[in-house]
Amino acid sequence: MTNITDSATARAHSNIAFVKYWGNRDQSLRLPANASVSMNLADLHTTTTVAWNNELRADRLTINGAVANETARTRVARHLDVLRARLDTDRFARVNSRNNFPMGTGIASSASAFAALTTAACAALNAAISKRELSILSRLGSGSAARSIPSGFVEWRDGESHETSYAESFAPADHWKLVDLIAIVSREHKRIGSSAGHETAASSIFQPARVATAAERISSVKSAILRRDFESFAETVEADSNLMHAVMMTSKPPLFYWAPLSLTIMEGVRRWRQDENLMVCYTLDAGPNVHCICADGDADAVAARLRDLCGEIEILRSDAGGGAYVLPTD
Ligand code: DP6
Repeated sequence: MTNITDSATARAHSNIAFVKYWGNRDQSLRLPANASVSMNLADLHTTTTVAWNNELRADRLTINGAVANETARTRVARHLDVLRARLDTDRFARVNSRNNFPMGTGIASSASAFAALTTAACAALNAAISKRELSILSRLGSGSAARSIPSGFVEWRDGESHETSYAESFAPADHWKLVDLIAIVSREHKRIGSSAGHETAASSIFQPARVATAAERISSVKSAILRRDFESFAETVEADSNLMHAVMMTSKPPLFYWAPLSLTIMEGVRRWRQDENLMVCYTLDAGPNVHCICADGDADAVAARLRDLCGEIEILRSDAGGGAYVLPTD
């Protein structure tokens, strides 16, 4: 048999949600309970090479140079099954993926990972797939990956069906110079990941109220971003994060992601904004690390206050970033 290999490399950025995705209407299609809004993170990205090869008997996966564990391999192979069907190929793939941010810091890698994987897999076969469809396909691998396809500030519409649930940019990355300072409160791997968490969201009596009011927060946060109104942005972003964590804490079984230090930082952030007029607000995903979203002019002052408050603390920093793209072959 002649060896036929078609490969491409793509890069996608991680993103931080300002209005969160939590819970699915359709678990297998990852149709979210509500729309969400996020910002791509320029400095946190995944670069993935996909090589479709007719001689492989199974998909192969390495992450940061090491053979991936069975859980990761199964999830990627399942996503490659979806892509095989769409791209009309029966070949298996060799997938090599690298994150430029430290693994195991509780910083979501599934968004950038599935956006880069989908983009590279389609590019390798020169398939003419629109950005919209790349977002739809990425969503099937990880919901938040839908948002890492378009650039800058992004809205993922909940949609009515598989075809209508995708993300689109509503402002470019340079529209508003925001910085995400991620205070690493714990490097411990989360016991309950987002995928399992989405399944329990509906068991909280607060989830219907959170979902029913999400559209208001979507329009208020988008309008605050478009007007560059930090005060209004901060109130909505913090309220939305608190609402998602209220749902988490009241789900069955309850999920407590905040650590004592997370709360200390959240209080500090509100104090710095209210008493010192620093443009900073907090948001937390499914983990204890605190994303401090700041105006770039205030980022150094916020980082200094984080160090004063917490002592030696690891802080990752990122500007707003672009969408997923294919790297030129060398
Ligand atoms: C708390 O996209 O990681 O970060 O679809 O199961 O991969 P899966 O879940 P994921 O969920 C993200 C949840 C969140 C909020 C958000 O990013 O909107």
